[in-house]
Amino acid sequence: PVEARVKDLLQRMTVEEKAGQLNQIVGDLLTGPSSGNAGWQSKIKLIKEGKVGSMLNVVGATNTRAVQEIALKESRLGIPVIFGYDVIHGYKTIFPIPLAEACSWDIPQMEINAAIAAKETAAAGVHWTFAPMCDISNDPRWGRVMEGIGEDPWYGGLVSAARVKGLQGNLDPDHILACLKHYVGYGNVEAGKEYNRTDMSRVELWNKYLPPFKAAIEAGAATVMNGFNTFEGTPVSASKYLVTDVLKKKWGFKGFLVSDWNSFGEMINWGYASDQKDVAYKAFSAGSMMDMETQAMVEYIPLLIKEGKIKMAELDEAVGRILYYKFKLGLFDGQHRFTDPKRESASLFTEENRQQALKAAKRSVVLLKNNQQTLPLNVNSKKIALIGFYARSKNDLFDFWVAQGDSSQAVSLYEGMMRRFGENKISYSDGYRADASTNEHLINEAVANAASADVVVLNIGLSGKLAGEDRSLAYPEIPEGQIALLKALKKTGKQIITVVSAGRPLVLTPIQDLSDAILYTWILGTENGNAVAQILAGDENPSGKTVLSFPYAVGQIPVYYNHFNTGRPSTTDGQGNWYSRYRDIPNKPLYPFGYGLSYTHFSYGNLSLSSNVKQRGKALQVKVTLSNDGAYDGEEVVQLYIQDVVANIVRPVKELKAFQKVLLKKGEQKTLVFTLGDQELSYYNAEGNPVLEPGRFKVFVGGNSQEVLEQSFELK
Ligand code: IFM
Repeated sequence: PVEARVKDLLQRMTVEEKAGQLNQIVGDLLTGPSSGNAGWQSKIKLIKEGKVGSMLNVVGATNTRAVQEIALKESRLGIPVIFGYDVIHGYKTIFPIPLAEACSWDIPQMEINAAIAAKETAAAGVHWTFAPMCDISNDPRWGRVMEGIGEDPWYGGLVSAARVKGLQGNLDPDHILACLKHYVGYGNVEAGKEYNRTDMSRVELWNKYLPPFKAAIEAGAATVMNGFNTFEGTPVSASKYLVTDVLKKKWGFKGFLVSDWNSFGEMINWGYASDQKDVAYKAFSAGSMMDMETQAMVEYIPLLIKEGKIKMAELDEAVGRILYYKFKLGLFDGQHRFTDPKRESASLFTEENRQQALKAAKRSVVLLKNNQQTLPLNVNSKKIALIGFYARSKNDLFDFWVAQGDSSQAVSLYEGMMRRFGENKISYSDGYRADASTNEHLINEAVANAASADVVVLNIGLSGKLAGEDRSLAYPEIPEGQIALLKALKKTGKQIITVVSAGRPLVLTPIQDLSDAILYTWILGTENGNAVAQILAGDENPSGKTVLSFPYAVGQIPVYYNHFNTGRPSTTDGQGNWYSRYRDIPNKPLYPFGYGLSYTHFSYGNLSLSSNVKQRGKALQVKVTLSNDGAYDGEEVVQLYIQDVVANIVRPVKELKAFQKVLLKKGEQKTLVFTLGDQELSYYNAEGNPVLEPGRFKVFVGGNSQEVLEQSFELK
């Protein structure tokens, strides 16, 4: 068994070799600030000395094989290196950004997407991805919301678990290790500013930030990444409470941890560790393990062992976890099953993978507005003015986390529309360029184009390059030049369909009234243009619902559906005085969590409970009738929320507890049944134990978190 092989190997390793397993160094591509660590020659020397357990950002069957050969043949014990890489939404075939994918509410499709990403990655010699990101966030200023799961902890858990299952499968050669990040609380980063502090109560931690990680651990995630942030004044890499007490002891996590890029070393900048030795000691004694790019572990663990500060048994325990997965992946056996160039070229960017990426992209789009059925477009329109620089700029279609994706192989909206509607129907103009000193002549050109067309499709937003790590924005807004363009186009009197591309929810208030329809297309990946064109044409009925609220204004951030009532909630919506609100904007976001339209229309009725009393241990049934009373077949995401009305700790006004994505033919009606058990009605106390309190609960069902039907019951 693997355990016996790990034990045997540990017995033959020197303390330096053991510390080497905790060392992860980068290949060529930097995804963090350069540590000045020397070039390839010294990296190879370290590998030969058995001082490298893992490398990140070395990719491709040929490259990984070359490095692996050295580890296997030229290090004393021939321990293979484990290669890690950020495969965030695909390796070569690029899927929608994780946030967009989460808006599809299509959990099985998410698993498929992750499995394809894993298969391509594994064929390219890489064993491990730093995904999925399980950070709950309420802050679209934070560039990393693109990588995430949105604002709901329960739903975030489902999504994260599906991603883990898709990536890892049964760890055969078509799958890779997943890594949950950034453990934990990083989505709460102060002011949405990257690498900043976080602070929260333990009940907030347990109820909001830990659930997605817990669900993903339960799904079998092999590894976890420490965040950059702080918790209770401690950098999370050094938090014994988070790493040892919660993750390892309470949850029984048996995999291994890796730091974020130099997050161990950054303890010195935080003012929490005095030097590298102190860094190694603090990280290790908290229970953290592999060290990305600091090299503190490899340098100082042997000394800390010698001084008796760390026990050999503790080191063996940590190193054993890493070796376990190296054995499990088969890296010691059939040495090159991960490094076969033929398999690599046959596996990447296949037609089949692209078809799945197209399906995923279509399901991720969210229709936010559709005045008087502006969409779908009349395919018989004689001329469609396609306006907007982003419709043609492939580079802007891709964000930073695209692994080996090649934007020149992606489909732009321009190409997608030409293909779908016919070349003679599309007349294109830029209308706006972020790099132009003045957009006046571009606007004039676009207006002339619009004036001679039947309808305008305008693609605005933010470049994908502004989404991801180190991309915090103080103003997650539509740039002024684009609003000016939209205003000018509006004057033509033509119908305007605004397609917004961005890696986060932007403030859409200024464009809301200027657009007849708004289609939020996020960053959709390789098949972007085909997906959007097919939705515009009505080949696909949009069914996505946003998992992150769209703020009304920047000053409203953070705004989220599962907030507390406060002591002074508004009961009169805008009327009266002395309640919790802003004087200049509404309390509600522009579009709430769970919101998204369809070309058809759904009505809800007959919300009923199997009883108005629920006994502990027994389930309660919730029924609702859904009718498709519009003109198209369509899918609806039916959402069920609860509220624990009075509790020992204040609970949110609504908490999502169930959903069903259902397809209804036009004119069809269906009764949906949900089951509520004790688990759905419990919350966590500060010790992380579930609490089920008797009392009144409200149940809400609807097509988004605001427009719902309501019932209530008593838990006995
Ligand atoms: O995986 C990432 C992490 O999410 C942020 N910092 C760099 C890591 C490795 O590229």
